[in-house]
Amino acid sequence: MTTTLDAAQRVLPPLRIGPITVDTPVVLAPMAGVTNTAFRTLCREAGASTGHHPGLYVAEMVTSRALVERNPEALRIVTFGPQESPRSVQVYGVDPATVGEAVRIIAAEDRADHVDLNFGCPVPKVTRKGGGGALPWKRQLFTDIVRAAVRAAEPHGVPVTVKMREGIDDEHLTYLEAGPIAEAEGAAAVALHARTVAMHYSGQARWPSIARLKEAVTGVPVLGNGDIWSAEDALRMVAETGADGVVVGRGCQGRPWLFADLAAAFHGHTVRVRPTLQQVAETIYRHGELMIDFFDDGDRAEAEGKGMRDLRKHMAWYLKGYAVGGESRHALALVSTLAELRERLDALGDAPYPGKDAEGQRGRAGTPKTPHLPYGWLDSRDLSPEWEAKLREAELSVSGG
Ligand SMILES: Cc1cc2nc3c(=O)[nH]c(=O)nc-3n(C[C@H](O)[C@H](O)[C@H](O)COP(=O)(O)O)c2cc1C
Repeated sequence: MTTTLDAAQRVLPPLRIGPITVDTPVVLAPMAGVTNTAFRTLCREAGASTGHHPGLYVAEMVTSRALVERNPEALRIVTFGPQESPRSVQVYGVDPATVGEAVRIIAAEDRADHVDLNFGCPVPKVTRKGGGGALPWKRQLFTDIVRAAVRAAEPHGVPVTVKMREGIDDEHLTYLEAGPIAEAEGAAAVALHARTVAMHYSGQARWPSIARLKEAVTGVPVLGNGDIWSAEDALRMVAETGADGVVVGRGCQGRPWLFADLAAAFHGHTVRVRPTLQQVAETIYRHGELMIDFFDDGDRAEAEGKGMRDLRKHMAWYLKGYAVGGESRHALALVSTLAELRERLDALGDAPYPGKDAEGQRGRAGTPKTPHLPYGWLDSRDLSPEWEAKLREAELSVSGG
């Protein structure tokens, strides 16, 4: 949808994550249920369509326990298309030994080139076990997990990064302490979603916190995350915070071409992708095809069913703002075969880019929520021996972010 762009003034130098050089300092945020090979491929193709080497595209999070147990669905998450380079995965875990072993498997078996660690998940199922965004509160545990991951990855030249929130709530902020700890333990970059766990996805990401983290972490890149809905937002975040790069999540749901805009913007161009409805329909169809490939374990019909079911949730995002009637939207949200998808997309006809209605906030939002935490979690920054034992047991299979 865009043409190769000529040289212009780039906004930031390439992002260096350990041995990996990311020419466009833009990261597709890990999103459970969204950033599988199919969606990452669309984002990467969009970024590359500008002629610039695109950014980093992180897979859905995988739990360390599931990976260590070689659960087939966990292994599917850690699969990449032949054109995916560098390959980037995110690991979640609450036990240093299990996280270390999961990272060893990824690095030693050459399953990925980069490992990100999830310390930002606000989902009750996760924080109730002391995981995700609740974890950095326990300083030593956080330190031990980062250390175990870095040590397991280092011999294989795989960089480890940390993704976190500001803290549990405004009274229990952790990011200014966690950032330097991560750096000292050998993390190759630190990303901040500038919300607390209590904020969930509500309100506005507090970009000034990214600037503060940038002051606290001086030796490795600091990446800013939260509420980037357009390339202009990304440029503004960088200008306001001094971040070395940006992480983009919900803004690209149903808009993988945002990565073309981001690549253009970070290389100094003002051209932006403004797809017509027909162009959106073509992207949806390609997403459907890629989704089937992703689920294909040899039984194409089964993969088609799974792929179409997984595609359904993307429909409302893709069609946001476009002149499409309720009935057509409904039919697309129930699609079960590729032939049906083709037919229903063709029936949409064409319509111009709707402008503002297709832009701005999308995806998860909602209201602040009191974090679900283990009993007594906030009483101390240290882990009681009883909890240490419990955490080892707690590596249940979780999903969400
Ligand atoms: C559907 C969904 C799934 C997510 N899954 C993960 C995840 O697996 N790991 C993670 O670190 N963050 C996860 N997140 C959080 C995003 O990576 C990102 O930090 C957050 O959405 C804020 O960025 P944004 O404003 O650009 O969306 C998820 C967010 C959404 C909306």
